[in-house]
Amino acid sequence: MISEGRRSCPERLSTVSAIMLRANVRSIGRIREFVTGALASQGIDAEVIDDAAIVVSELATNALRYGKLLDGMIVCAYMSAEGPVVEVWDRSPEPPRVMPVDFEAESGRGLNIVCELSARWGVTPLPNGGKAVWSVIRKAGDR
Ligand SMILES: Nc1ncnc2c1ncn2[C@@H]1O[C@H](COP(=O)(O)OP(=O)(O)O)[C@@H](O)[C@H]1O
Ligand SMILES: [Mg+2]
Repeated sequence: MISEGRRSCPERLSTVSAIMLRANVRSIGRIREFVTGALASQGIDAEVIDDAAIVVSELATNALRYGKLLDGMIVCAYMSAEGPVVEVWDRSPEPPRVMPVDFEAESGRGLNIVCELSARWGVTPLPNGGKAVWSVIRKAGDR
């Protein structure tokens, strides 16, 4: 599904699990583990948790590359009525841009994967600058 930047992220049904890690590539694995643990405690299907781990890796990799992070990288996970939500914060005002699918290209695939695995995704500005990029993970049966 295409980004719906103007619609806000879904309302929280569970408490929000959040983690702040150093903004470097070694944190990506920890972020995957964090999301897997946070969503497993909500009783979510293993397949959907795997998808959430893929989506959060792509969003966190983008935050590292393009997000003008200074210190830490913040990642949140929570349940909504629409499904599990993962969210990655960064400090760049620039929105993510989905690139046309090009099987020859070595970059520009990440957000296409996010589109594929999300029921919807978008961007919410943060009060002190920067943005949260969030994704509602698609239900297993909707693929
Ligand atoms: N968090 C972000 N902040 C600013 N720009 C972003 C962010 N995420 C993605 N982008 C922009 O969207 C483009 C597409 O992202 P993506 O599909 O993940 O491809 P890639 O990471 O390989 O460039 C990036 O090249 C970048 O210009
Ligand atoms: Mg990317």
